[in-house]
Amino acid sequence: MKKTFYITTPIYYINAEPHLGHAYTTMVADAIARSRRLLGQDVFFLTGTDEHGQKVARAAKAAGLDTREFADGIAGKYKALFATLGISNNDFIRTTEPRHIRAAQAIWRRVRDNGDLYKGTYEGWYCTVDELFVPESQLVDGRKCPTCGTEVERLSEESYFFRLSRYEDRLLEHYRTHPEFIAPEIRRNEMTAFVAAGLKDLSVSRTSFKWGIPVPDDPAHVMYVWFDALTNYLTAAGFPDDEVRLSRYWPADVHLMGKEIVRQHTVYWPAFLMAAGLPLPERVIGHGWWLMHEAKMSKSLGNVVRPQGYVERFGLDALRYFVMREMVLGQDANFADEAFLSRYNADLANDLGNVVSRVTTMIQRYCSGVVPARQPASETGLDVELEKTAAATIGRTLADAARFDFSAALRSTWELIAALNKYVVAREPWALAKAPESRALLETTLYNAADALRIVTALVDPVMPQSAARIRAMLGIEPETWVDLRPRTLPASVRLGRIEPLFPRMEHTVDELRAMSESPKTEGAAPAPAAAAPAPTPAPAGGDKISIDDFMKVDLRVAKVLSAEKVPNSRKLIKMTIDVGTEQRTLVAGIAEAYEPEQLIGRTIAMVFNLKPAKLMGIESNGMVLAASPEGGKPTLVSFDGEIPPGTRVR
Ligand code: MSP
Repeated sequence: MKKTFYITTPIYYINAEPHLGHAYTTMVADAIARSRRLLGQDVFFLTGTDEHGQKVARAAKAAGLDTREFADGIAGKYKALFATLGISNNDFIRTTEPRHIRAAQAIWRRVRDNGDLYKGTYEGWYCTVDELFVPESQLVDGRKCPTCGTEVERLSEESYFFRLSRYEDRLLEHYRTHPEFIAPEIRRNEMTAFVAAGLKDLSVSRTSFKWGIPVPDDPAHVMYVWFDALTNYLTAAGFPDDEVRLSRYWPADVHLMGKEIVRQHTVYWPAFLMAAGLPLPERVIGHGWWLMHEAKMSKSLGNVVRPQGYVERFGLDALRYFVMREMVLGQDANFADEAFLSRYNADLANDLGNVVSRVTTMIQRYCSGVVPARQPASETGLDVELEKTAAATIGRTLADAARFDFSAALRSTWELIAALNKYVVAREPWALAKAPESRALLETTLYNAADALRIVTALVDPVMPQSAARIRAMLGIEPETWVDLRPRTLPASVRLGRIEPLFPRMEHTVDELRAMSESPKTEGAAPAPAAAAPAPTPAPAGGDKISIDDFMKVDLRVAKVLSAEKVPNSRKLIKMTIDVGTEQRTLVAGIAEAYEPEQLIGRTIAMVFNLKPAKLMGIESNGMVLAASPEGGKPTLVSFDGEIPPGTRVR
């Protein structure tokens, strides 16, 4: 493995405030950067802002501000957002900085001295939102930009041209000999077809506005914003003065971005670099778009999600987890609050949160808060199985992360969480704790469970750094890298820290969440659904048989137990929090003589859903659990074959 790793995000335009799209690219780059640090690489992670161009000057004017003052304001908002998102960038570049102006002018001179720049006149359709001339053939409705839908403007001006046409063959050759250069494959095919169709020389300067980097020796021209912007990646790597730094980090390993700017990065950028005699980046990755209401989330449409609200309500890692789990790199994804809530409650509160709370609580309760030692002689096939799954999960997750596929990496890690939950249920430590002769097996079980939890923690670290730190604090262990990650290396005898809930269940409704994002300007509010009229209550049928209608009045449902605890001063009662699909409820059941609370967590039960609430030992119970209750014997809960989602009706 290379010693260094240089990863970049696009530098973001500052004509409007950041939204989830910008946050997404930066969070993925952050996870990649963190995973590479865990592998021991010297990582340089760059992000920043793209501050020149006509539309910035226009936006400043519209805001009644001096352009520089305006730029400082929005760049500050990007920096603040990235701090909120826990971004571990090593540098933040602004294209208005003197170091960048020097670098862009130095590259310009190299390209010019190579004979690749000449003066001419440019006339064409220009989109001021995307800072791009749009070929006539691509205009929508004859006048609109195909990317953002804004009306294009006709521009004609004296301009320097870059001899892009010279690079057609070299670019195609590069794509052919470096198939990893453009990812995913669909983008490589698109770009190959685009170049093969023929490249025209590119206009790379403007005289119609001043907010840009002056062209060396011809200050009436400022550089075309893409020529200026792309070179930021070299500036931050030390170009042109710091040769030591440059040879350390250049060429970049990954340029990460949305798919709409892959062309600039895989056609213009490598051609500029070839013309300047500099090595090309290793890889350009174009991810898909976050959509909302079926359209690309974008400031011009106004259908944007602001990430801050989600961080405030659910915690940073919930947002980081959701976007990285939900979007498969390269494909578009819809941002839906329903999906957010359900992933939060199912994957985080239920799967990860529960396993952390279960394992730590049992060590607390049965081993006085000190991780016990494993006692190999007591082990059975179950322990071997868990160890194997842990080792395989490490291999798979690291391989997924090496492909930058964090959705797959998280899926892989969650398999270990599921295996760990199953292991605990199968081993029943609460039963072992009651039998002194099972002490060795109990200690082995809790050690192996804590060890698997340590591995889960290390694996989620790049995506969920705050949670990883919190779980480690609970387990009382130090951060660890991915360099030598393997099962059964957890030190025994460590004392647990304070146990606290990691992802408490959330009862936010979708409407509450929706209020945090901005709807498309064109869409009207949907009418609220009419409340159902209450049905008349017929008198119950007489005799000992009931009609099917009577039976159908009892709403039986599947539910999942999220947490369970004994009701103080009661021999029989257990208080549970259950997931009924649409909400979370408190339910009290008389099953404490048959079940330990730990045994119930994660279990699927059947319950009466529409029972009037009743108070038991001062606790309001909403529903009743179904159990076989033999005369004089202990109750046995009704159970199901396989996984049935909470909320499913039982008839
Ligand atoms: N300034 C240029 C990039 C120059 S790089 C040398 C630019 N800026 S931008 O502000 O428009 O940011 C575009 C990038 O933001 C996308 O490539 C992507 O990384 C991110 N996203 C913006 N909207 C997005 C979505 N709706 N979905 C996913 N990512 C999005 O282009």
